[in-house]
Amino acid sequence: MELSVQLAPRRGRGLRLANPVMTASGTFGYGTEYYGVLDIQRLGAIICKGTTLEPRPGNPQPRITETPSGVLNSIGLQNIGVDELIATKAPVWTGWKVPVIVNIAGATVEEYGRLAARLNGVPGVSGLEVNISCPNVEAGGAEFGRDPDTASRVTAVVRERTELPVIVKLTPDTPDVVAVARAVVEAGADAVSLVNTLRGMAISVKTRRPVLGSRFGGLSGPAIKPVALYLVYQVAAAVEVPVIGIGGITTAQDALEFIMAGARAVQVGTANFTSPRAPLDVLDGIERFMREQGIGDINQLVGVARE
Ligand SMILES: Cc1cc2nc3c(=O)[nH]c(=O)nc-3n(C[C@H](O)[C@H](O)[C@H](O)COP(=O)(O)O)c2cc1C
Repeated sequence: MELSVQLAPRRGRGLRLANPVMTASGTFGYGTEYYGVLDIQRLGAIICKGTTLEPRPGNPQPRITETPSGVLNSIGLQNIGVDELIATKAPVWTGWKVPVIVNIAGATVEEYGRLAARLNGVPGVSGLEVNISCPNVEAGGAEFGRDPDTASRVTAVVRERTELPVIVKLTPDTPDVVAVARAVVEAGADAVSLVNTLRGMAISVKTRRPVLGSRFGGLSGPAIKPVALYLVYQVAAAVEVPVIGIGGITTAQDALEFIMAGARAVQVGTANFTSPRAPLDVLDGIERFMREQGIGDINQLVGVARE
């Protein structure tokens, strides 16, 4: 049975994963935390926590709250910073079979460029995922990913400073995600992943205040799946590069829906908080489905719902 997928066909060495199931940024740490909890080497890839130039303490507490079918988070990119990542995490990853992709986040276009340059050629780093759902401090805090021109400038600067495969991660909080997807592909993205969290909030009627310390947060989990699936379907029809589906994927059926909508691979996020085994259960379920349906190659299922 062929489960492997190519995520960067336009890049010299490409980015081939043994299977299409990855873990989503911010929901699986650096992978190291899960060593011994499950066989992480069976995963298609691990996307590590969003990484910035300097270490960040993140937003005020509370930073996570449960909703009826998912979570709201306002972690605020708490992370160890790129230098510490290169010094302590990447050397561990070099011994792994599973590729690790570093998710990067900047406050200015130039910061993305510096992060890309810093990570270029670092052993243990197999690719970059560019989180453009961050506030652009040079544009009054509007997210880079809202606007095709800004998203394109971020992609171009990253593309210029690295030979690594570049995945650009799109935000659903934009009036036209297809236009943003087209712009980043034109600027050199090898693949696009979507979606990041959707903006949301919760209010405590007891305290009469927003629940999250920073008032607003990002909604993830099963609640966002139909929205994410719709956007993946639209983007996959519009771009030639591989699309990675993210949003509420909890079971193999969820993952298969994204693949049939046109995703070449998927990421499992919030489901890791319920069960760290979720991504491997998703993978096992995909294999079972393929066996039952007599499908020899996962790539045959990509986009079938669009035919
Ligand atoms: C606690 C938490 C932290 C996250 N941190 C990041 C991050 O650092 N960078 C990023 O691009 N996405 C981050 N995300 C978004 C996820 O990677 C994913 O895009 C989103 O949660 C939707 O997928 P899901 O519904 O499967 O969780 C985070 C999500 C959660 C719940």
